[in-house]
Amino acid sequence: MGEYKSEKQPVEAIPPPVVATPQTRAQKPASSRKFRFLFSAVALSFVWALAHRWVYVVSPEVEKEAEKWLANPYEHLRVLEHGFHGQGAGRGGHGHGRHGHGHGHHGKHEALNGKLAEELFLTIPNPASAIAASRQYAGKPHLAGTPGDLQTAKDFLALLQSELGAVSPAPLAPSSEPIFSAGTQESRNATLSISKLNKPTAWIDVYYPVMNTPLDHSVEILAEDGSVAWKAALEEVAEPQDPDAHKYAEAVTTWHGLSRGGEVKGKLVYANYGRQEDYKALIDSGVDLNGTIVITRYGGIFRGLKVKGAQELGAAGILIYSDPRDDGTVTTDNGYATYPFGPARNPTSVQRGSVQFLSLYPGDPTTPGYPSYENSTRTAGENIPAIPSLPISWNNAKVLLEEIKAGGKDRIVSLVNHVDDRVIPIWNTMGVIPGHIKDEVVFIGNHRDAWVLGATDPSSGTVSVHEMVRGFGALVKKGWKPLRTIVIASWDAEEYGLIGSTEYGEDFAEFIEKHVVAYLNLDSSVSGSRFSMSASPSLAHFVRGAAEKVPHPTKPGLTLWDAKKDTGVLYGEHIDAEALKMYEEESQNADELGVSPLGSGSDYTVFLQRIGVASTNGGFGSTLHDPVYHYHSVFDSQAWQERYADPGFLRHVAIAKSLGLQALGLADSIVLPLNTTHYALELGAYLDKVESIASTTSLDVDLSGLRQSINSLQTASAALDKEKFKAERELKRIVKSIVRRRIFRRTASKAKCALKKLFGKKCACPHNQQLEAHAAHQQHITAAQFGNGHMVKPRIGRYPGWLKEQREKEHSSHGHHHHDKKPKIPFDKLKKAIKRVQAVNQKLVSFERGLIHPDGIKDREWYKHLGVAPGKWLGYGATTLPALTESFTIDHNTTQAKFEAGRLQGLIDKLAGDITPSGCGRKYSRVLRMF
Ligand SMILES: *[C@@H]1O[C@H](CO)[C@@H](O)[C@H](O)[C@H]1NC(C)=O
Ligand SMILES: *[C@@H]1O[C@H](CO)[C@@H](O)[C@H](O)[C@H]1NC(C)=O
Ligand SMILES: *[C@@H]1O[C@H](CO)[C@@H](O)[C@H](O)[C@H]1NC(C)=O
Ligand SMILES: *[C@@H]1O[C@H](CO)[C@@H](O)[C@H](O)[C@H]1NC(C)=O
Ligand SMILES: *[C@@H]1O[C@H](CO)[C@@H](O)[C@H](O)[C@H]1NC(C)=O
Repeated sequence: MGEYKSEKQPVEAIPPPVVATPQTRAQKPASSRKFRFLFSAVALSFVWALAHRWVYVVSPEVEKEAEKWLANPYEHLRVLEHGFHGQGAGRGGHGHGRHGHGHGHHGKHEALNGKLAEELFLTIPNPASAIAASRQYAGKPHLAGTPGDLQTAKDFLALLQSELGAVSPAPLAPSSEPIFSAGTQESRNATLSISKLNKPTAWIDVYYPVMNTPLDHSVEILAEDGSVAWKAALEEVAEPQDPDAHKYAEAVTTWHGLSRGGEVKGKLVYANYGRQEDYKALIDSGVDLNGTIVITRYGGIFRGLKVKGAQELGAAGILIYSDPRDDGTVTTDNGYATYPFGPARNPTSVQRGSVQFLSLYPGDPTTPGYPSYENSTRTAGENIPAIPSLPISWNNAKVLLEEIKAGGKDRIVSLVNHVDDRVIPIWNTMGVIPGHIKDEVVFIGNHRDAWVLGATDPSSGTVSVHEMVRGFGALVKKGWKPLRTIVIASWDAEEYGLIGSTEYGEDFAEFIEKHVVAYLNLDSSVSGSRFSMSASPSLAHFVRGAAEKVPHPTKPGLTLWDAKKDTGVLYGEHIDAEALKMYEEESQNADELGVSPLGSGSDYTVFLQRIGVASTNGGFGSTLHDPVYHYHSVFDSQAWQERYADPGFLRHVAIAKSLGLQALGLADSIVLPLNTTHYALELGAYLDKVESIASTTSLDVDLSGLRQSINSLQTASAALDKEKFKAERELKRIVKSIVRRRIFRRTASKAKCALKKLFGKKCACPHNQQLEAHAAHQQHITAAQFGNGHMVKPRIGRYPGWLKEQREKEHSSHGHHHHDKKPKIPFDKLKKAIKRVQAVNQKLVSFERGLIHPDGIKDREWYKHLGVAPGKWLGYGATTLPALTESFTIDHNTTQAKFEAGRLQGLIDKLAGDITPSGCGRKYSRVLRMF
């Protein structure tokens, strides 16, 4: 799915925050400064990861190891240093020169985390590789459940294996593949052991949803005597100028996924976009839809909800067509030739797509709330239509609309849609890069299945993920291990109704709830020229920051974020006023940063709206002045991408980079980059919106209690912000002091073994030569750090003598006489500082979880997030504070509105308590009691 148009309003550029570290302020030699900063950051990550594990994991064996570590922290920290500089991180150098100058002399020992990882990562995604990948994925039909789809699942698995060195989760029989039927022990184990893995791992889970495939279908106008007066040519017609489209034009018949099969006849009624207001206008003007065949144009809302609206008014069937009025200025009226001869819509193009009632619940219709295993018990399915529907082309719609315009013949129309409903296996490909902190997971997902070729939807996204994986692969090959674990999912059957991701989310809800700190979604990455981002408000600043670090794909000097203002260049005289208005309305949800809330229509849904995982989604969308995106048509092909959507594939690459930066930032930061204050402020803005809606109704509901609770949440979040800052500063301070105390003096192979075991690795004693090599490096560090933390530029060439000199100086100044005397490590303080950071991160993650209510939203209880949901009658679009808002807009029920305001207030009060730093607890509850 993934149709979204980016918003139009220009956003004032806010300069990126300047982070002043003590290092940037100090006047020190650039090389040592950079090195020391890097070193501390990496030390910090490792120490924290280690203690994190030690604090959380209580197995006696680990505890024993931890005790060893405690007993001899110097050696262990020394080994840590050894570990991060010795792990091949810099072996053979970087292979790129962009930042070579700053640390040339320690290049051999570079650790890959933080900024260095980002820099190396950004050098990898490239257009040539992206184009090749796109040809691989989009060169054949890969509808969910077909052989082409299975092939792409295996292709993606092979990518994870070759780039990340991913292995199978468990030993397999020779020559068998890691493809597991969902619900089996192998499949369960694969995900449930993510937090125990030591090596990159990949496999395929097979789910078994009920879906359908098209059989025969027809649309006819019947003469008075019942004979066929006109029969629509329903298939798309492609010219050889687009070779793939030409070859596969009839590979996947034009039909609606999960549509109801049937044969119906009736008079045609035109219902514009098929929105609730469109149907209401018809009813108000006295039109009876009972027994009719509704014809509506695409656009505005999710297509399944057009069907639902018609069905509820008694329509017998529904046709949905692609109208060039919705193509902005890029029309034949304005002189543009049609595809493949120009950028305007090919008039035979048809938008396939699911007609599931997405806003009721996504996923397999027959297993709501639980996974579709091969043998799952199934329900009848309530989120699918009871009337048949078909998507049709503009060419066919023209003929039908002729029937019902003034003076038309208004004859009976027959609609036949025969489908084959059955259980169809689908394949989610899963990959894991284990981090140091194994029980915190950053999850990235993109769907792989297409309606036909899907060069844009989803292959542009799959290509960006492909490039991102290559970037991670380059890091892994240099010894990189993220601080947190990263999981990459290639979902299947998204097009039918977010099925692959939803079934997985229902299968592993507990795992996700416990471990996943954020979910990064990518659907299509390029269908036009305008960049846009949607995200949980807590990630709004972060996703913007990531996009600001990536250059604009085509305009020098600008960033990817600036592409939010791009409009396309194909202008013309005529534009449909209603399409324009709707396009502009879609932009109004964005916050002042320019980030919109998430509705639905892609795979973040189960993560965000059922489990409460902060999520992001974004990419380049098409504008009203871009070449027409033939969404879900055979013309969404490689040729269209290469000629019109992204010549040169620079946009694909830019999205790969921005997504990768999001993942690296979330995986490698000490304090998670979740901004609860922005979220709390946004909740206030959401309530403003409800109040403005309420003021237009006759309902009298007091929302001031809810307002006060949101204010208190903002106060609690401000306290958490302070705590975030202090907790990180304190941890860094302690680690720095440890670094400064020259605890890296001794090598101890035994200690190294203990430490490795602590990380769950096998231990082999280090080779002497290796030790020597590292000893040289150790001297280097010691030199660089000498003198109470003051950086001294070492005199190259006479290290040993110089070093001795410095040591003696320092020791005498401290009154130390024994070289072996170990400086003291503030271990209790370190432990406390780490626990403090952990507590902060738990609170940050708990914010989104805190908006989950177990009872869910009225009449669509699958959705449990009371902060945001797909609008009941929107589908793609988000409705904020959905349960409360819809009690005004849909139920018009005071009792219900009061109930919802109270329910929300309860959640928010609890959330405010939960995120309040423990030190302020009492003070805060006193504040609460005042209200
Ligand atoms: C699954 O994991 C359990 C416990 O970790 C183990 O005992 C079992 O053998 C595993 N089964 C398979 C099929 O991998
Ligand atoms: C539609 O009309 C039929 C009779 O022609 C009637 O039985 C049915 O109740 C009507 N449905 C609606 C929704 O009005
Ligand atoms: C489902 O049932 C079939 C037949 O009883 C059996 O062979 C198969 O192993 C079952 N699959 C699962 C995942 O339990
Ligand atoms: C968090 O959000 C608030 C409100 O938008 C903003 O003022 C603040 O700078 C943000 N903090 C960070 C670290 O982005
Ligand atoms: C209004 O909502 C309340 C509470 O949900 C419900 O009991 C009542 O039936 C609703 N009233 C109407 C007129 O629907």
